[in-house]
Amino acid sequence: VSSATVSHVLNGTRYVAKETDARVRQAMDELRYEVNSVAQSLKLNRSRMLGLIVSDIANPFFTALVRGVDDVARSRGYTLILCNSELDPEQELRYLRLLRQKRADGMVLASTGVYHRYYDQLIEGGCPLVCVDQAIAGLACDAVLLDNEAGAYDAVTHLIRLGHRRIGIVGGAPVVATSGERLAGYRRALREHNLAEDLELVREGNSRMNGGYDRTLELVDLPRPPSAIFTTNNLTTLGAMAALRRRGLRVPDDVAVVGFDDFEWTEFFQPRLTTVAQPTDEFGRSAGELLIARIEHGMADKPKRVVLSPRLIVRESCGAGSLADSSDLERIFAQSE
Ligand code: RIB
Repeated sequence: VSSATVSHVLNGTRYVAKETDARVRQAMDELRYEVNSVAQSLKLNRSRMLGLIVSDIANPFFTALVRGVDDVARSRGYTLILCNSELDPEQELRYLRLLRQKRADGMVLASTGVYHRYYDQLIEGGCPLVCVDQAIAGLACDAVLLDNEAGAYDAVTHLIRLGHRRIGIVGGAPVVATSGERLAGYRRALREHNLAEDLELVREGNSRMNGGYDRTLELVDLPRPPSAIFTTNNLTTLGAMAALRRRGLRVPDDVAVVGFDDFEWTEFFQPRLTTVAQPTDEFGRSAGELLIARIEHGMADKPKRVVLSPRLIVRESCGAGSLADSSDLERIFAQSE
């Protein structure tokens, strides 16, 4: 067959009859031929490789996000290279440089939030970046974000409507922009319901279990402990629940809990967790589609910002019973007001 036909078989760039396709692949097997992707990317100036850097691979939110990006990448003929920065800005920068050296065609970045000049150099050099979960101040690139402030506002308003007046918050790592956005939603809910903020109820965690555990112990050990706690991400919630159990406190009878991030295990907790759900699969798919569009159709038009909506899922940990979601509660609260 012609070299063009072999190329179409290798790259799937045109239909090849099944028997011809089979003959080419058999010849490759007999010759033990492997595509030289380095040579291919130099020739085509495309590696069909995408980089994805997440800040905490142990966090189920990012695991689900990876699946969304990978689904899109595979369906469009790209290979995904996954890196984990462990919330270390220097490690993140090292991975970005390495991925570019490996000729990644573009990158999705669940960033640590710290800007570096190199990020602009990447984009100016024709390597598109798409930020997910949080944008990077000062960096003009596509981003897929959540309305974190609204999610936190809904969570805390829900607790206020259930009668709680002393509501603690265990925030995330301050370097992560979503932590500040969720704290802002907590504060707006208190303000709009004429509740004064008590700074001893505001605790700064690290978006991980140990921070959730330690800060929750501080809250419940206060002389005037909160009757409810809002935990601002999944791992923080796990740590908080362990701390409440450590103090022998019942949820929701002694302390009501609302967390941020829904994940598979929330249904298996006793009581089941009330959480603010993020559309994690949509995060990944949207980021993957935006990045491939940039790679294949250029970077002329201005950066796009997709803001996804959170959803409050009401279960038993807040004390409101097993209503399916906040729409049921809206109806009940409307009747009671
Ligand atoms: O658990 C992951 C979520 O919490 C993400 O939104 C990230 O920003 C962290 O704060």
